[in-house]
Amino acid sequence: MCGIIGYTGNKDAGPMLLESLKKMEYRGYDSAGFGILHGGALRVMKDAGRIAEIARKVGISDEKGNTGIAHTRWATHGGVSQNNAHPHVSCDASIAVVHNGIIENYQELSSQLKAEGHRFASETDTEVIAHLLEKHYREGNHLKAFQETAKQLKGTFAFLALFDDKPGLILGARKDAPLIIGVGKGGNFIASDIVSFIEQTDRVVFLKDYEIASITANKIEVFTFDGEPVEFAPTHVAWEASDISKKEFAHYTLKEINEQARTLSAALDQDEEKINEFCITIKNAKNTIITASGTSFHAGMLMRYLLAKFAKIHAQSILASEIDQEIDLVEKDTLVIAISQSGETADVIGAVRKAASRGASVISIVNTAGSSLTRESKITLYINCGPEIGVAATKSFTSQLAIIYDIVFRLAGLEEKRAQLRDLSKHVEIILSQDTSIREIAKRYKITSDFYFIGRGLHFPIALEGALKMKELSYIHAEGLAAGELKHGTLALVDAGTPVIAINPGDETYDETLNNIAEMKARGATIIAVTDKQNQLYNDVIEIPAVDSVFFPILEVIPLQMLAYYAAVERTLDPDYPRHLAKSVTVK
Ligand code: G6P
Repeated sequence: MCGIIGYTGNKDAGPMLLESLKKMEYRGYDSAGFGILHGGALRVMKDAGRIAEIARKVGISDEKGNTGIAHTRWATHGGVSQNNAHPHVSCDASIAVVHNGIIENYQELSSQLKAEGHRFASETDTEVIAHLLEKHYREGNHLKAFQETAKQLKGTFAFLALFDDKPGLILGARKDAPLIIGVGKGGNFIASDIVSFIEQTDRVVFLKDYEIASITANKIEVFTFDGEPVEFAPTHVAWEASDISKKEFAHYTLKEINEQARTLSAALDQDEEKINEFCITIKNAKNTIITASGTSFHAGMLMRYLLAKFAKIHAQSILASEIDQEIDLVEKDTLVIAISQSGETADVIGAVRKAASRGASVISIVNTAGSSLTRESKITLYINCGPEIGVAATKSFTSQLAIIYDIVFRLAGLEEKRAQLRDLSKHVEIILSQDTSIREIAKRYKITSDFYFIGRGLHFPIALEGALKMKELSYIHAEGLAAGELKHGTLALVDAGTPVIAINPGDETYDETLNNIAEMKARGATIIAVTDKQNQLYNDVIEIPAVDSVFFPILEVIPLQMLAYYAAVERTLDPDYPRHLAKSVTVK
């Protein structure tokens, strides 16, 4: 959701924070702001708009001062405006706060604080934190003020604060939202996301819930909300600084789409013991639920199909945000498999916690090391695709699929298919080389108002994913459908020229899907087929290599990502930062 970052060290905080904030822009990008401490003065600069523009306006690159905090916002409480942008300050502007999450009891707290004379300047939930810190602060005891404040807050939060009487100090607290310390040389960082400081340091401390961090240029301390000191040891993260550069690509999304030949293989590099334990846990489970949100849910759907088809294991796939409807059926011997790129999606964390509280075991497939979901899980398999910056998930999806396929083949004893899976990368290169022709198709259909994506069997989750990509990136309305369901309603919408993306490679679903395509074509639809098998019904064809049919889904999603990406580019939109969306949705 929102991104927060603090830096204290021997360099000027302004330019350091600006660079960090740009790396976190994918977490939210409707407003941004900075709070800088310099010579006992606390300066707050903030506005609505994109980071680069605000930074230029306030002149952050020339700002002096070695300690600061910054924020990039994805609005939840309060509209997008300068007043609602972070940092928020106490009445006397001596304390500045940036926050990620939602303070659920903010109305009650702000009424109390107002009655006590505090003056509020915004409509946000965050502002109560600044006033609470002010209320609880007694000279020299910053930590105590933090403890008292954190204990009064309900909801999810990671927040950072500066006090103008304590140059060099940043305090941060976490509950149910990520907060990570970056241990640097000559300075330290604290942020909601490792990518924000990975160019400076890969030594990190993952804070846990109900912990407070106190950071200066050369000292890091961690405490509980009760003020008890906590021992900690920094760990190294495997991400490289170069992973977060766009390289020669116009956008992160395009770079990440193009990384998939490599990331597919990386996903398969798993610790044997761990992945075996993961498989045994699935095998022994009496009742299995796969849960996730967004793109990861589509991977979960495909996992359900593959488990049934090849390993003869029944699992349900349930959207994390909908788990309440079936939570009563979760019991001690239920296994929950949670899938999440970020490991921070609030709906997913909420779902696994509810299931765990009923005795279920949780195992997970995650990209981000140390994320909240990994802590809720008995076993976590990492997909190892490196940081994914583009808001719309691309490489993380195919990496999730690679691990899922490997798990299913292990469970089904299909060693030969496991070897074929390792070989898939070379086919990805062939698809990526069709860049120009896919862009041509995107150009031709860029003014359409609707797209329909159809697929049957294993291709149905991919139809859903293709439609989701198209909506997220190009803002064109798109619907993903099981091909067989068309005639039960959606066919009524098909008209002369309606573009239909038919995912129809030559497997056992081919003929039936072709019938559905014919039904649409008879009503005037224009058919864009993703296939290895030509047919005269098709107006346009995006070719995929003829592989063993089980692997088609991993390959066919890639041209759909490219199509959505180019549709956005052709419509002069920014594919990396789609409007209203955020990469890591840490609120419910
Ligand atoms: C957000 C992102 C989506 C993503 C979903 C789930 O909505 O914009 O791209 O699929 O969250 O994220 P997760 O990190 O749990 O996979």
